[in-house]
Amino acid sequence: MALEILIPEDRLQARVAELGRRISGDYRGKTVHLVCVLKGAYTFLTDLARNIEVPLTLDFLAVSSYGKGTRSSGEVQLTKDLDQSLEGKEVIVVEDIADTGLTLNYLLNMLRSRRPASLRVCALLSKPSRRLIDVTVDYIGFEIPDRFVVGYGLDHDQLYRNLRYVAALD
Ligand code: IMP
Ligand code: MG
Repeated sequence: MALEILIPEDRLQARVAELGRRISGDYRGKTVHLVCVLKGAYTFLTDLARNIEVPLTLDFLAVSSYGKGTRSSGEVQLTKDLDQSLEGKEVIVVEDIADTGLTLNYLLNMLRSRRPASLRVCALLSKPSRRLIDVTVDYIGFEIPDRFVVGYGLDHDQLYRNLRYVAALD
């Protein structure tokens, strides 16, 4: 399979720093609670968190919506729940990519019922042309075309997560 670099490391780092600055400004005087959607968002989370300058806590959940293929089955399963309550917290869901929107839609409905003070979404990538459900993504790193991408946390069949860039896999 061939890899084509779509977003090199320096552009990723510059954009993540920019998102961190925006979040720091929007949440001035508050404490943010980042919810990392495992596994794909783990690299983005660690870089983003280090670029946020307001007090911050974080927690992890895991969902599985993909099998071995490159297309979503549309079925979302919570495979690891959060450790901490969300009640009264300023929550930002940190996701690797908004594709059809099914995963984020499922997560937002579930997390909203836990009564956070606020609930926003920060996704590194978005494929707007693939959206099946209209979910609001408050912070987006990059809009990309309808190609399957790997790297910077994103996988194909659990591989390629360690790449320092985002690449299309054909
Ligand atoms: P959605 O539910 O269709 O929006 O899919 C969201 C999830 O599918 C993401 O959290 C990713 O884990 C996975 N995904 C979607 N597109 C890609 C891709 O191009 N590469 C790797 N994973 C993807
Ligand atoms: Mg994911």
